[in-house]
Amino acid sequence: MQKILVTGGMGYIGSHTVVELIQAGFDPIIIDDLSNSSVEVLDGIEKITGTRPQFFNFNLCNDVLLGNFFQNNTDVRTVVHFAASKAVGESIKRPLLYYKNNLLSLLLLLEQLAAYEDSKILFSSSCTVYGQPDQLPVTEQSAFKQAESPYGSTKQICEGILRDACKANPMLKAISLRYFNPVGAHESIQIGELPQGTPNNLVPLMAQVAAGIQPELKVFGSDYNTRDGSAIRDYIHVVDLAQAHVKAVHRLLGNKQRNNYEFFNIGTGNGISVLELIHEFERVNKLKLNYKIVERRPGDVESIYADTSFAKKELGWQAKLGVEDMVRSTWKWQQSLSSKK
Ligand code: UD1
Repeated sequence: MQKILVTGGMGYIGSHTVVELIQAGFDPIIIDDLSNSSVEVLDGIEKITGTRPQFFNFNLCNDVLLGNFFQNNTDVRTVVHFAASKAVGESIKRPLLYYKNNLLSLLLLLEQLAAYEDSKILFSSSCTVYGQPDQLPVTEQSAFKQAESPYGSTKQICEGILRDACKANPMLKAISLRYFNPVGAHESIQIGELPQGTPNNLVPLMAQVAAGIQPELKVFGSDYNTRDGSAIRDYIHVVDLAQAHVKAVHRLLGNKQRNNYEFFNIGTGNGISVLELIHEFERVNKLKLNYKIVERRPGDVESIYADTSFAKKELGWQAKLGVEDMVRSTWKWQQSLSSKK
């Protein structure tokens, strides 16, 4: 079985991708420092797949441990790199931590991979690299705008590092996947998002308000130039997103790339407003969410959704799950978390 190193494989998107990789016949090995996840995620992965992947607990910025890992695993040439700090608000307060964690981990991985002639890396990027695009839906050719946060800036810089590294070394193959807004949980409800403290993202907050953990949901802005005044995003089910990684791994390993550095939008192509999503959550889960409209949140863009035609044509991937699946699995996952407490 082909070994694949999955950094951050215990996290939200990472764990769902590990499941899909195992089910596609790969042998994922996880490095994760558990800074935003829990060792119990391994149990969830094992319950779904019947396989308990190898797991190493350390931070990728530890170049000694990373070097040891590659010395002991010389057959690992392919990396899916999720491990990164990802809270936008925290990145504004602690920019150096974000630049260090997100840039250094990628640089150290690339240094290790440089020892091989046939190394491949799949990188977690974000639609945040586009800022507020001039045209919607946003295509991969849209220019990067000034990043709204150090977190966004790290994603732009990491993509630049990959582009330059691939230009200098034609043997290195890389793909960046620019995620839109990942939500939902695995249908088995064995894995899902584990927010630490009060979540900042809309969907985990909705779930916590429904569960009575948070008193109310604040809708940031009702005066945007959109159909109902609230901001529009392209929410994508995390299992669809995980499957996009498997497609990208196949593309890397099968040498199907047109250029040795490529990047794809990974969204559904459907823009949904905050209020529409709230009403869908209420309708599908047959409950009422306590929400109120407040001021816009600084740094938010008005509207963004993906042009997914490039991913469809080149990766042979498109999202299969809809908003109903997203809000239903989110609520089931929240209920399972609440029942464990
Ligand atoms: C944010 C990041 C994005 C990152 C993603 C990770 C920014 C600019 N972007 O996306 O880079 O990849 O998280 O998941 O920060 N909302 C409310 N009330 C809330 C929370 C959110 O109304 O309590 C609204 C927001 O204004 C936004 C939408 O819900 O319109 C989605 O917000 P959120 O889930 O935080 O994601 P993004 O900000 O789109």
